[in-house]
Amino acid sequence: HKLTVQPPKIMDRPYKPTIFCGPGPADMWPSVNEALNRQLICNMCDEFFNVIDDIRAGIQYLFQTKSKLVLAMSGSGHAGMEAVICNLVAPGETLLIAKRGMWDIRADIVARRYGIKTVLKEIPLTQTFSLDDLESTIKKVRPTALFITHGDSSNGTIQNIEGLGKICHKYGVLLLVDTVVSIAAEPFLMDEWEVDAVYSAAQKAVSGPAGIAPVAFSALAESKINNRKHEPPFYFDIKELALQWNCYGNTRKYHHTVSAPMLWALRCCLKEIANETLQKSWERHATVNKYFNKRLQELPVQFLVPKPEDRLSTVTTVALPKGYDYMEFIKYMREKHGILIFGGIGPTVGKTLRIGIMGVNSSFQTVDKVVDALANTLKVLKKSSL
Ligand code: GLV
Repeated sequence: HKLTVQPPKIMDRPYKPTIFCGPGPADMWPSVNEALNRQLICNMCDEFFNVIDDIRAGIQYLFQTKSKLVLAMSGSGHAGMEAVICNLVAPGETLLIAKRGMWDIRADIVARRYGIKTVLKEIPLTQTFSLDDLESTIKKVRPTALFITHGDSSNGTIQNIEGLGKICHKYGVLLLVDTVVSIAAEPFLMDEWEVDAVYSAAQKAVSGPAGIAPVAFSALAESKINNRKHEPPFYFDIKELALQWNCYGNTRKYHHTVSAPMLWALRCCLKEIANETLQKSWERHATVNKYFNKRLQELPVQFLVPKPEDRLSTVTTVALPKGYDYMEFIKYMREKHGILIFGGIGPTVGKTLRIGIMGVNSSFQTVDKVVDALANTLKVLKKSSL
């Protein structure tokens, strides 16, 4: 055969490494770099099932749940979002979305694509919800489920979830929670807080690569999944995935070929978190973030989130003084200081820097490095551009 497309010249380019201090990905545990190079495992062999057993135990610890319906989706946090929504809310049913940032907007888009009716309860993006307020909305809307984001990387807020499960269950509503940028850094107790479905990702405070998303479902969510009349997309079907992930014993049913490097990496992250313990990790993130907030006060920047108790420990949002250009600022931080930070996303574009100090980067040394670089960048760009 004659080829109509010639072989491309794929050249390696020089790449200057930076530290990842944006809202994600964060840097990885050094042990994860090694884990990514471990041997391939096939989906039907014993070692695959040993690895997924370890991962399921690690996820139960991560989310603090004794639920059996616990596994990891192949994909980024978005795969978790899709799976949770499309398995638990049928087309035509109503999903109430507590909207305060980018991920709630994304959940709305995802849900509507499945023919789900959405109702948005909105607050300003630098605030968090009062549970009383949510209860009155639930009473009015009577949705099938409530979607809420625990930590929001677009605005740097942390939402209180404790007590919300009880409220939801009083009205027969399922509680779905996004913990992508909060898990392992902020306290989260799935069973105690009566959360029905939760998803996260590996590339934030878990300090692994993007591409694998832990999910867990309560007994109530499980019964909804097993009795549902609608068929979600095959790739996201939790009923099928549960049989591949041996959630109900030794079923070993093939669903899709799971990426071995992703499995090894997630297993390694969960091992690191178990070794440190969740309490110590939560405490480390809280202490380091307090120090970061204190040091940021040396600079002429303004916190986007006014109440310190609403500020997320992993991603901090600060506005630059008037006259600075966000893109120029971020570029200078990357090129001159080797530190990757981000600007706003969705509703926060052009309003904030988003600085992530999480996972392996959650340390006093990283804070000092970042604050010193911010101070220098503020000084240099002031001279040249103001
Ligand atoms: C991605 O998760 C982001 O917060 O930019």
